[in-house]
Amino acid sequence: MLLHLTNILSSDELEQAKSLLGGDAPWRDGRSSAGGQALAQKQNHQLSQDSEAARQLQALVLAALNRDPLFLSAALPKKIFNPLFNRYHGESNFYGPHIDGAVLHSKATQQWVRTDISCTLFLSDPADYDGGELVIRDAQGTQRIKLPAGHLILYPGTTVHQVTPVTRGERIASFFWIESLVRSDEQRRLLFDMDEHLGRLRQTLGEAHASVVGLTGTYHNLLRLWADT
Ligand code: NI
Repeated sequence: MLLHLTNILSSDELEQAKSLLGGDAPWRDGRSSAGGQALAQKQNHQLSQDSEAARQLQALVLAALNRDPLFLSAALPKKIFNPLFNRYHGESNFYGPHIDGAVLHSKATQQWVRTDISCTLFLSDPADYDGGELVIRDAQGTQRIKLPAGHLILYPGTTVHQVTPVTRGERIASFFWIESLVRSDEQRRLLFDMDEHLGRLRQTLGEAHASVVGLTGTYHNLLRLWADT
């Protein structure tokens, strides 16, 4: 499932993120973290994970994710890879078609994370750069994605994707992966749809209505059936 979540970061948080990522932020060649197939395809910069800026930015993004009910309902996160940050501009301006590794090791948390869901949180205003679209190919076709600053796209880790060359300005984003409690994209989608509809029913009928109580039970029983903790 491809899901666009709006306003994950407030405008204050966005300003804070931009100031941590500007000036003398410790950007490194992004190829240092790419293996095999990705190595030849990747031309960008990544923020050094060991920096104080990275630690503050990770905390900021994680706090924003953990307070967003739509994100939690859609991703059902078991583990979130510590958010990373990349920049495309100048000569280092693209990431060709590739697939993300299935299981990645986080240096920050010393955890292995299965990449059920890939996420990009856009941090640059789309008017400030040309190109830099996230292109995702799946069974439904090709999606070209370029979102306002502070917005997030969730997409299945199984897809081939790329970032097209940035030909003007710079594109800064946060990217990370989620190992979900529910491994199957199809099952997650069903739970997300059900949770959305239940939310509307709660508003119309009230929390105590017998059907709301019953269907909430069904939601949790499906989650219990499918969740792997
Ligand atoms: Ni990727």
